[in-house]
Amino acid sequence: MAARLSRLRYSAAEWGPAMTARGVFLSFEGGEGSGKSTQISILAKTLERAGLEVVLAREPGGTSLGEAVRALLLDPATGDVDSRAELLLYEASRAQLTRELIQPALATGAVVLCDRYYDSSTAYQGYGRGLPISEIEALNSSATSGLKPDMTLLLDGDHQRGMNRATTESTDRLEAAGDEFHKRVRHGFLKIAQADSLRVKVIDAEGTPEQVAKRVLASIRTIPVLALVLAEADL
Ligand code: TYD
Repeated sequence: MAARLSRLRYSAAEWGPAMTARGVFLSFEGGEGSGKSTQISILAKTLERAGLEVVLAREPGGTSLGEAVRALLLDPATGDVDSRAELLLYEASRAQLTRELIQPALATGAVVLCDRYYDSSTAYQGYGRGLPISEIEALNSSATSGLKPDMTLLLDGDHQRGMNRATTESTDRLEAAGDEFHKRVRHGFLKIAQADSLRVKVIDAEGTPEQVAKRVLASIRTIPVLALVLAEADL
């Protein structure tokens, strides 16, 4: 494992100063029921098989403060929440997660897989709730201290079917927000991907988990250090 990691760092150094002292940060985005968690767990297993250290994180949550905020945000019993109050709660959870978990994990050279990151605030609170995008971007940048994922995988699929899959389990406060809201969120994610196409890769989320996992892996391989380690492990 240690040898793999030092090889990863050595390889990263060949690709430029931005990646020399840190691991790789990947975020997953998408609407409700888009299959993010399944894809994250498949990718985590593949990367671990290649000898990499994988750290999982999720938003909102991932720290004690974040999990408390998550419970508040998702509980239908919380009732009406002002859009700005909602945004600030997500940002608070994000600030804590970034400093407590993501930055330290990246500093050890791990691959961090994060289930949602700041693009969710832009899509849900911006495009979904209608708060000004510039305001959200400023808060995103403050909560993350400017940290950006090396790659964001946007799992995009048919919105209605996504919602059906989500509502077969329990329905939380955001899932219950309505059809039009979720259409705006999907449109928002696609706009974000268009505006930042180098970072955000749109993955067709239709098909079996194995088919989608192949698409995810194909995108991941465009990150040179991961391509190298996966190839060395014959994956
Ligand atoms: P979760 O149960 O994790 O949903 P999913 O499995 O779809 O990720 O709930 C997270 C909810 O919070 C989800 O509806 C998206 C929403 N959300 C925001 O509205 N803004 C944000 O910044 C984040 C991170 C999540």
